[in-house]
Amino acid sequence: MKFEFYNPTRLIFGAGSLEQLGKVVSQYGKKALLVIGGGSVKKSGAFDRAVSSLKTAGVSVVEFSGVEPNPRLSTVVRAAELAKKEACDVVIGMGGGSVMDASKVIAASVLYEGDPKDMLVRAGKVPKLPERALPIITVPTLAATGSEMNCGAVITIDDEKEKLKTFIKTEVLYPKVAVVDPELTITVPKAHTAYGACDIITHVTEGYFNGIDGTPIQDRFAEGVILTVLEWGPKAVSNGSDIEARAQVQWASIVALNGWVQAGVNAPYPVHMIEHTLSALYDIPHGAGLAVVNPAWMRFAAKFRPERFAQFAQRIFGLTALGKDDLGLAMEGIGRFEEFLRSIGCPTRLSELGIGDVTEEMLSYWADKTLEVLCDEEGRLPGRPPLSREDIAE
Ligand code: NZQ
Ligand code: ZN
Repeated sequence: MKFEFYNPTRLIFGAGSLEQLGKVVSQYGKKALLVIGGGSVKKSGAFDRAVSSLKTAGVSVVEFSGVEPNPRLSTVVRAAELAKKEACDVVIGMGGGSVMDASKVIAASVLYEGDPKDMLVRAGKVPKLPERALPIITVPTLAATGSEMNCGAVITIDDEKEKLKTFIKTEVLYPKVAVVDPELTITVPKAHTAYGACDIITHVTEGYFNGIDGTPIQDRFAEGVILTVLEWGPKAVSNGSDIEARAQVQWASIVALNGWVQAGVNAPYPVHMIEHTLSALYDIPHGAGLAVVNPAWMRFAAKFRPERFAQFAQRIFGLTALGKDDLGLAMEGIGRFEEFLRSIGCPTRLSELGIGDVTEEMLSYWADKTLEVLCDEEGRLPGRPPLSREDIAE
């Protein structure tokens, strides 16, 4: 194992921490672009509280609303133009992963010379990463992506014939501060709470199953995240106002993708890459797409590495080998995982996402779109095992 770990984001966590937003932001700028989504934060009152905290601290506010789920590059560009015109000196992303991701790329686009599309990853091209960004402050309102404390962003390119969902990951996108107030998540509907739980688990299963061998501490971290979500996720789904459950799930979402669990594991994210194609083409919620793709991918990958999936079955679901070989145990564990997803209200079949009548052509096309974002020298999607076009379709 060999790695370097760096995460400079200050994390302010706990119920009521929104009150500190103004004081926090005033350390970085005087005029904030406050980026929000389709209006949930206005309905909940969080937006007004944020604005009042900012004004009290002497920070003036320029609002940019309307970031859509699976955020589009064209939206990012419009927001960056507004930030330039208004001479904003700090960007606040208040919302789910879509809003936070958009905010990061807005903050970089304001200072970027060239087309922001060139920042994004595409197979066969070296991205021209931004070297600067306005200071970014994140205020998550949904527990899922962990975007509040990482330097990644997922953006859909929408100026081409068919949309392409890709990503950027670079140090200047680390938020300066994440103000994480679990009270802001109590209005998240049951379905999105469940999709968030699936997203959190999938962030750590990617490393668990696709990472290098010999990472016992990272395995235990990942298992800790999964077991925490299995325990507290259903409580947050069944009673959205359970602030303790909301807080535990939100902390899990941060831990799952702030780099700590991933350190040294060196894993690609094949399940995410396949899902991103679905959410780009069909505009489905990311976590719901993962609930379909992840168990299906697991059943495929377990055949190549049954002992690893058997470990998952044993340590997460307490299953024992009793008369079963590793693959049998692995499949039982995957079945239990899928049952869990269903029990909290996640779809596990494409038809439940409204994607019916799937043909061979569609599957091949989705595979091609996925490989258009990322592939190795042999044209395969990185992972364990690396996936050819036919593998992805299967
Ligand atoms: O737009 P508004 O009105 O705010 O409504 C949103 C949206 O409709 C709603 N919502 C958010 N907070 C709420 C709320 N509704 C009521 N009360 C609240 N407190 O939830 C809906 C979904 O929001 P979205 O931001 O799209 O969800 P999520 O947080 O799951 O983010 C998904 C996006 O993040 C990307 C995904 O690909 C997708 O584009 N990801 C980003 C990652 C990262 N930066 O590290 C990693 C992830 O793997 C993921 O790929
Ligand atoms: Zn995810």
